Amino acid sequence: MPKPNFALLSALIAAFAFLTPPAFAAGDAGAQTTRPAGYNPIAGDAKLGEKLFTDTKLSTNDMACASCHANHSAYSDSFAKPYPHTVVMAKEQLGRKTVYLDEMIQACMVMPMAAKPLPWNSKELAGLVAYLQIQQKSFKPSR
Ligand code: HEC
Repeated sequence: MPKPNFALLSALIAAFAFLTPPAFAAGDAGAQTTRPAGYNPIAGDAKLGEKLFTDTKLSTNDMACASCHANHSAYSDSFAKPYPHTVVMAKEQLGRKTVYLDEMIQACMVMPMAAKPLPWNSKELAGLVAYLQIQQKSFKPSR
């Protein structure tokens, strides 16, 4: 079981810090992180996703996905469930009852990464999805 560590702590701080200065209206972020009508996900390259996972250039605040999620850190137990499922952060901050994996990646792009969502049909988003699907398989919920 991963112990709480600095990465997790900073994840939680960052996840809630965006609440204070409203950088975006919740409604916009909810829409921005919702699959567009007729969305047809493309197949992704997990190797590209793995590279992007550690790329701070995706964010505007020097964060990379791996700053929080290295070694399965900062995921809730919900990560173990097939998508779509409920993710507390997306539900509470974006009013999203359930999210697909690509939508959750977009949610972390706009919230903790303080960036714009990735283009829906980009190889970047598809690559992150492919990489995260592999990560999900070895993720063990804490209870
Ligand atoms: C500052 C910390 C932080 C960064 C950076 C971050 N995340 Fe997250 N992420 C979180 C937290 C906290 C949660 C858990 C939210 C919850 O369950 O309410 C989360 C949840 C997720 C989930 C959902 C897990 C589930 O329960 O299904 C995915 C997938 C995810 N992040 C992917 C990413 C990706 C991809 C990036 C980079 C583009 C990223 N995250 C960047 C903090 C972060």
